[in-house]
Amino acid sequence: MAESNHTSCRIVVLISGNGSNLQALIDAQARGILPGTIVSVISNRPDVFGLERATKASIPAITLDHKEFDSRETFDQALQARIDEHQPDLVVLAGFMRILTPEFVRHYHGRMLNIHPSLLPKYQGLHTHRRALEAGDQKHGVTVHFVTEELDGGPNILQAEVPILPGDTPEVLAARVQLQEHLIYPEAVRWFCEGRLVMENNAALLDNNVLAPSGISFANTEA
Ligand code: GAR
Repeated sequence: MAESNHTSCRIVVLISGNGSNLQALIDAQARGILPGTIVSVISNRPDVFGLERATKASIPAITLDHKEFDSRETFDQALQARIDEHQPDLVVLAGFMRILTPEFVRHYHGRMLNIHPSLLPKYQGLHTHRRALEAGDQKHGVTVHFVTEELDGGPNILQAEVPILPGDTPEVLAARVQLQEHLIYPEAVRWFCEGRLVMENNAALLDNNVLAPSGISFANTEA
């Protein structure tokens, strides 16, 4: 793996849909606050809006349609090959809605991040907003974490909380969470590219300090 630093941090972003988190990263790069370059965007679904966002930002973007592969293994092998053409320092899962094979995850050990719309370890998997509402929770949120073989289970890096308000629907709550997603993901990617964020012994470290299991709490004024 190439040494991550301000000038050479090469980022590949994987998407499956709208790509609003990709957009947050593109915007951060354009504002000069992301010390790295998004060198490629890969979608497992054709014709998604995230691909348009990449193209508009002049980032090479391709579709690798998982439906054209006969197994999870063959898809992940092809995906890995396409990613590695770009020699990335970091792989960013930005709404990439695929379960990954252990081999794929191991290949990107310590250099793959995910964003998940819940306060992990709560609500791993799908339908997080609906589940938080049905449980009667007072608060909800989003987590950026390193990816390990456990689905949505790798060490947490950064979390942002939002309140759950009377009358919230899953859609309203999702929108409130997404505002926070777009703040915390560029921050975590920035730390990684600066060489400040690493994974060691299944823990996330920032500036050589082991982070709490919940990760760093993102203080904000917008919740
Ligand atoms: C985001 O809300 C992200 O947290 C979620 O998908 C959405 C993608 O939105 N990811 C997961 O649920 C992963 N398990 P986007 O395409 O607009 O960035």
